[in-house]
Amino acid sequence: MVEIAPSILSADFARLGEAIAAVERGGAGLVHVDVMDGRFVPNITVGLPVVRSLARATRLPLDTHLMIEEPGRYAEQFVEAGAQMVSVHVEADAHLHRTLAAIKSKGAQAGIAINPATPLSALDEALPFADYVLLMSVNPGFGGQKFIPTSLDKVRRLRRMIDERSLETRIEIDGGIDKSNIAEIAAAGAEIIVAGTAVFGEDDPAHAVRELLNAAVQWA
Ligand code: DX5
Ligand code: ZN
Repeated sequence: MVEIAPSILSADFARLGEAIAAVERGGAGLVHVDVMDGRFVPNITVGLPVVRSLARATRLPLDTHLMIEEPGRYAEQFVEAGAQMVSVHVEADAHLHRTLAAIKSKGAQAGIAINPATPLSALDEALPFADYVLLMSVNPGFGGQKFIPTSLDKVRRLRRMIDERSLETRIEIDGGIDKSNIAEIAAAGAEIIVAGTAVFGEDDPAHAVRELLNAAVQWA
């Protein structure tokens, strides 16, 4: 089953409540929150206070994507702020196992995020400790970038790696996804699909989520 995770990065930050209500109506499965520190990525976005407010504004799970250095210093605080899912970048954390365990001990799902140029072999040891892998299909930092085509094969290889080990790890994919490419991405084995521009760049975000869901099931 495929879930759509609209990324609020492309929404109007002064009207986040309305943005979230719209994607709830459209059938979004979760809300993707991009946290950027201006160091791990060349952009700064939102942090704990915004997650706290969003948690009060929606029943959808908050999927927080930490694009920050030393994510282990903050990961548990994001769970306390109301996030049900927290992902940290494999490139940013020297103590990934500890951070994943800390997120889970607080009762949230723990994810490993991985950049386009980082090989899947970097996940080898930590994979059994993750509830999901967030595969980046653009270089993190900005919305509205073009899907990197080799990501499709990376999803397939990750799917195989998970299945061969009989793990339950889910695959989330993030960056440059719209209704033109979502079907093949879902067919490759991605189960959670992040979409920013393809949802909030449209006049009717609720309708945009419905269209993405419809397009995603075309592969079945
Ligand atoms: C990029 C973020 C993405 C971004 C996706 O660093 O991680 O979540 O919002 O935006 P689109 O769907 O526009 O590529
Ligand atoms: Zn993201």
